[in-house]
Amino acid sequence: MKIVIAYSGGLDTSVAIRYLKEKYNAEIIAYTSNIGQKIESPEILEERAKKAGAKKFYYDDLREKFVKDYIIPTLKAGALYQDKYPLATSLSRPLIAEGVIKVAKKEKADAVSHGCTGKGNDQVRFELTFKYLAPEIKVIAPLREWEFKSREEEIEYAKEKGIPISTTKTKPYSIDENLWGISIECGILENPWQEPPEDAYQITTSPERTPEKPEYIEIGFEKGVFISLNNKEMDQIKIIEKITEIGAKHGIGRIDMIEDRLVGIKSREIYEAPAAVILHTAHNELEKLVFSRDLYEFKKLVSIRYSQIVYFGQWFSHLKECLDRFVEETQKYVTGHVRVKLYKGNCIVVGRKSPYSLYKEELATYTEKDIFDHKASKGFIDIFGLTSKLEGEREK
Ligand code: ARG
Repeated sequence: MKIVIAYSGGLDTSVAIRYLKEKYNAEIIAYTSNIGQKIESPEILEERAKKAGAKKFYYDDLREKFVKDYIIPTLKAGALYQDKYPLATSLSRPLIAEGVIKVAKKEKADAVSHGCTGKGNDQVRFELTFKYLAPEIKVIAPLREWEFKSREEEIEYAKEKGIPISTTKTKPYSIDENLWGISIECGILENPWQEPPEDAYQITTSPERTPEKPEYIEIGFEKGVFISLNNKEMDQIKIIEKITEIGAKHGIGRIDMIEDRLVGIKSREIYEAPAAVILHTAHNELEKLVFSRDLYEFKKLVSIRYSQIVYFGQWFSHLKECLDRFVEETQKYVTGHVRVKLYKGNCIVVGRKSPYSLYKEELATYTEKDIFDHKASKGFIDIFGLTSKLEGEREK
């Protein structure tokens, strides 16, 4: 039997390699991808995977694909789960699962595997993608099968079997990281009344210690895609990295929320996503300038549904494809610039412009430049207010 496993290099997946090898008497192939997390060199990862029991090791740099095929469509869709979460972890799962399936097909493997627990969202995201891309392949989820009850028991097992693990001292949090943001859970954060201690945050400066002076940045968009920062054109990975750095310095992108997992559990989640927060804010503002009211309000409904699709692991689905086509069409005029002021944890839009703007100063103004026909409003109100009048008469 041949099994390909999504391997992060951490404790769970290291132990999983050995567990799968022994339980299924299988040949294990470890697959790791770079999606913008802090990551060790492929050589070190390979050595570690092999010491854990893997026969082969594959490594992919998926950052470009992540940005182009996952992050940009989600930003265009304006998708924030439960109004806040920019979906960094959610988006990475189908991407990684795609990579696993590619290797599984090449290696003619019998099964694929992941290191997700049985009470989270990630197992769903991995497995729905596996099902969609390779319905014939078997899925094994060791963390749902094995008997370990704590990290300590896993560490004990790893030591017994000579499996190298990166940190012996247990971290107080569970952290998942990629280019689009960081998700932080567990430990003291499980008490929703408890303010997150400073050490929970990995990259952002606390607003108490950010610069006393605001910083302004200007983001350029073309058809919904961010293409420049401070009027310098750059590739999207670079823009995300730069905005992450600047935003983190000003304490932007901290999200503390209670969210509903797909399996029904409410959980307290901390996120750090400076680039996602700033880019969503700017992108939305540009849409306000160029969209009609009808389009703006209708697209909000699509944003909500889109965020659920991503969160629920239905990335590969006909519904998402259909929504993508709609969203793409909406982005036709989302071209222009947004100026954002960053100050003490706040991301404030202070300017916006677009060649396709529907804003007309002569219509909005209260000066003599005004071209709006005030007299026409009487007839408009009489007709728009007809129902109000009828209802009012009835109430009497
Ligand atoms: N709750 C988030 C999600 O479902 C993040 C999960 C991240 N996992 C972690 N180990 N912190 O997408």
